[in-house]
Amino acid sequence: MCINPSSSISSTASEPFATGIAFMDESHQLLHAKLDRLSLASDAEFTAGFESLICQVHDHFKEEEQAMNEIGFPGISCHRDQHAQALNALEHARLRIKDGAVTEGREIAVLFSRWLGFHIATMDRMLASAMQHAEALEPTCVAS
Ligand SMILES: [Fe+2]
Repeated sequence: MCINPSSSISSTASEPFATGIAFMDESHQLLHAKLDRLSLASDAEFTAGFESLICQVHDHFKEEEQAMNEIGFPGISCHRDQHAQALNALEHARLRIKDGAVTEGREIAVLFSRWLGFHIATMDRMLASAMQHAEALEPTCVAS
């Protein structure tokens, strides 16, 4: 597995959610961009946007969980539980939004955005650190 680490795991003011793992950082940026667009969406656009957000979150979590499996990450159970709880909350909100509770859906989107920031700063950074450590231990392939 090539994790393509970026230059540093530490975040900067311009990249508050940087983990140092390219696929995670790109995916997190896309999620934040989606949440920003969702906050500006009309009520009519919000329902479809929220559905799309859930798909994106699902795919992102799946990618992280695959990476955890590949390196035998010891914190996989706890991390996967956090993902499952967040997805469960989003799925519940999706049903409420379908029933017309768009204002409630907007509140859930804001809460999810805050949760995501905290999750990245804690669980994802821990995973990123483990991935960088695992990558450093991998033997270098030499083409012959
Ligand atoms: Fe995560």
